[in-house]
Amino acid sequence: MEPDQSGCARRALPTAQAGRVRHLGRSPGGRPRGGTVQRPSRGSQGYHQPRWRPRPAAPRGSRCLPEAGGTLRAVATCARRRFPSGCRVTGRRLFVERVRICLVGAGRAGKVHANSLTRHLPAGELACIVDPVQSALDAAGAEYGVSLRFKSLDEALAWGRFDAVVITTPTFTHRSLTVLAAEAGKHVFVEKPMALSLVECDEMIAAAARNGVHLQVGFMRRFDPEFAAAYEQIQGGRIGRPMIVKSLTHGPGLPPAWARDLRTSNGMLAEVNSHDWDCVRWLAGSDPERVYVEVANFKGAAHQVDTPHFYDNVLATIRFASGALGSISGVCPCEYGYDARVEIVGERGIMQIGDMRGQAVLVCTDRNQGLVTPIYRTWPERFTWAYIREMEHFVECVRTGRPPAVTGADGRWAVASVLAGTRSFLEGRPVRLEEVLAADGGER
Ligand SMILES: NC(=O)c1ccc[n+]([C@@H]2O[C@H](COP(=O)([O-])OP(=O)(O)OC[C@H]3O[C@@H](n4cnc5c(N)ncnc54)[C@H](O)[C@@H]3O)[C@@H](O)[C@H]2O)c1
Repeated sequence: MEPDQSGCARRALPTAQAGRVRHLGRSPGGRPRGGTVQRPSRGSQGYHQPRWRPRPAAPRGSRCLPEAGGTLRAVATCARRRFPSGCRVTGRRLFVERVRICLVGAGRAGKVHANSLTRHLPAGELACIVDPVQSALDAAGAEYGVSLRFKSLDEALAWGRFDAVVITTPTFTHRSLTVLAAEAGKHVFVEKPMALSLVECDEMIAAAARNGVHLQVGFMRRFDPEFAAAYEQIQGGRIGRPMIVKSLTHGPGLPPAWARDLRTSNGMLAEVNSHDWDCVRWLAGSDPERVYVEVANFKGAAHQVDTPHFYDNVLATIRFASGALGSISGVCPCEYGYDARVEIVGERGIMQIGDMRGQAVLVCTDRNQGLVTPIYRTWPERFTWAYIREMEHFVECVRTGRPPAVTGADGRWAVASVLAGTRSFLEGRPVRLEEVLAADGGER
């Protein structure tokens, strides 16, 4: 026996029955085990634990759930003292109804969701993984203890013993994979950007509606504790009506080759700034009406990028239907770290989300140098909780039938904004959203 983070003891995993209600183990003495919600693992720098969310105290009646790989997972509850989604108590027993998920795409985003499903969400089960690249498939399967691996979604659907798909493949594959899964009656979580065009978005929305399945788009910032708290306060009237919403995302490292090519991804405005497009619309509480975008390419040559229209800096100005104004700043690659912040100026005050410090720890070793605090290194570090909570939300929606909070319509608005923004910098003029919307996907 070996203690884990939660203070629970380690023991072997009983095998879960596919799609069945599962009885969680009890301690040998018949007493409920103590525990807390499983915390995100620490990165190599060990400083990305979100400081705004202190580890909650173990509530009465919490239990530990053994997980694949032999470590113990604490399943009981968050600070609000409820059992996590998918858990219920019958008599003195805790049950988890698990939603079985097929992960499609075992790259960077796929691994983030695999991590949430296998290490943090008792109600979710990673049933199988799909990726045409054998090395990616094997690496993810081994890392997350998933033995069922397929080269294509068709093969996985032929097997079929799962409730939902999580699609984390390049953007140009989102439409076909989403429609295929929906037609097979599987609920769909698809990463942002939802698709390349409005026609594709409409086909995805229609397929989900036709087959009565959920379609959630991966705008995880809406589930980030800071962003969610800011949204609630704006809704509560704390700063009055939003007048200006300014959002920035600066990310380190070049995205994969397909993600910096307008033809396969719609470029950085889509790949990096989709989150900003969604957030400014969500926080302003209004749809964009007109955008003007300027782009610049400072580092492409140094990174040997010669893709047509490549840019690594972007500034967008937005007018919303409400009369509010917005701006988006994007820089990628940006060597100093991962930086995502928002400022909302309302009629009665100002609100800021995020800062440049990755943790609250300050270090001073030299009075001439001053205080040092590390910035977030990567997006999985900055949005650790957001990714877990968005996947928890999806699992909960599949389990309960409740509609997702982030829909295909939200994804479609972000795609429309990207298309208008791209047209703006290509043609050097402000573009009204209705030009793109009226084209009904004639864009691409
Ligand atoms: N929400 C976020 O913060 C976030 C972060 C990163 C990426 N993303 C999004 O996730 C998606 C994937 O990005 P990534 O960075 O993980 O890309 P990636 O290139 O790292 O991984 C994509 C994986 O999909 C696989 N793949 C390609 N076609 C496939 C198919 N037809 N079926 C199954 N697998 C297939 C590839 O082999 C690869 O392993 C993109 O839409 C991207 O914008 C979102």
